[in-house]
Amino acid sequence: MSGQHPPAGGAHGAAAAASGAGPDGGADLVLSVRDLEVSFGTKRGTARVVRGLDYDLARGETLAIVGESGSGKSVSTLALTKLIPIPPGRVTGTAHLGEVDLIGLSEQELLPYRGRRIGFVFQDPMTSLNPVHTIGRQLTEGMRHHLRLSEADARDRAVDLLRQVGIPGAEHRLDDYPHQFSGGMRQRVVIAIGLSCGPDVLVADEATTALDVTTQAQLVDLVGQLQADLGMAVIWITHDLGVVAGIADRVLVMYAGEVVEQASVEELFARPRHPYTVGLLASLPVLGDFDRDELTAIPGLPPSATDLPPGCSFHPRCTFRDDPRCEHERPPLREVAPGHRVRSFYMVPEEEARHAAASERVAVEPPDVRDQGVVS
Ligand SMILES: Nc1ncnc2c1ncn2[C@@H]1O[C@H](COP(=O)(O)OP(=O)(O)OP(=O)(O)O)[C@@H](O)[C@H]1O
Ligand code: SF4
Ligand SMILES: [Mg+2]
Repeated sequence: MSGQHPPAGGAHGAAAAASGAGPDGGADLVLSVRDLEVSFGTKRGTARVVRGLDYDLARGETLAIVGESGSGKSVSTLALTKLIPIPPGRVTGTAHLGEVDLIGLSEQELLPYRGRRIGFVFQDPMTSLNPVHTIGRQLTEGMRHHLRLSEADARDRAVDLLRQVGIPGAEHRLDDYPHQFSGGMRQRVVIAIGLSCGPDVLVADEATTALDVTTQAQLVDLVGQLQADLGMAVIWITHDLGVVAGIADRVLVMYAGEVVEQASVEELFARPRHPYTVGLLASLPVLGDFDRDELTAIPGLPPSATDLPPGCSFHPRCTFRDDPRCEHERPPLREVAPGHRVRSFYMVPEEEARHAAASERVAVEPPDVRDQGVVS
């Protein structure tokens, strides 16, 4: 496998490191994405929304994809199994799940992969649940189709899943419709559907954003248990760098469709080097910091995907910009430490970056409820 795909860099995940294999090759590699490009034909021209994405994912590993709204986080994962409209969408590059390149498969050939090998927790639970079908039907559908379970077995497993995601009275809720569930409960149902077929890779797209912090922590813990038990790998998508601290092994920071920094979560919080990452970290609240009147925001807005600036796509907003190349040349992704890659002509000095990434910010992570016996 490693011979077929050039390494994407990145630190090994916790599970991968423990097993001695890692994202750069070896038996534990689950997903290997290379040069993924996604564009859409629009009235205003071609929107290049994902540009040259490379990453590897090992069994049991959690990769967080972080970035502002519109940076291409959702589209980059939806494109893996053609869950975007094609046309106007166009996807190139490769995405090997084991030996199979998903990007090269037809719609029909992708069916056994969607939901079964790659589970999705879609960003919007309102649109991913069908209002005219019962929760039970929507939960059992994939298990009956992909796992060939009988109706009775699928319903039993559906009740177990609803219990696991914390739906009270789960055994009585299968015949209810989505409108009979609260927003947070619908979100948990969508998570249960994503987990139902025991996927190799779970894409959790803002999966816990709408939930209170305790429920969020329970679900993070549940996913963590399944990773440990089944070796499931997780792509955790969020716009909030703060929440990845307690969840991820590695982080990809995306800006305007491209990776601007990737590193292990520890390295990224300890030594962020890209001006954008440093800006994101500086905009996180710090627990107990009562002296700060306001949070530091990154000035300006991300560029339109149909009108990307020349040179570094972050340059119009970059307060560190002082290299003449910034406005004319696209910076390459350079390795600055093992597994730590940065797309910038200028590296924020460690001392300055450390100040922005003060370790107290990591306290934003949800509390660990494992020891409180909340999750069975
Ligand atoms: N069907 C489509 N046609 C045209 N452009 C699209 C389409 N779907 C997505 N886009 C564009 O692709 C870009 C990336 O969208 P994406 O949904 O991946 O952002 P995101 O990083 O997930 O943002 P958010 O944090 O708001 O969920 C956006 O500019 C969006 O407008
Ligand atoms: S390449 Fe230049 S403009 Fe871009 S992030 Fe680095 S310093 Fe800023
Ligand atoms: Mg999104």
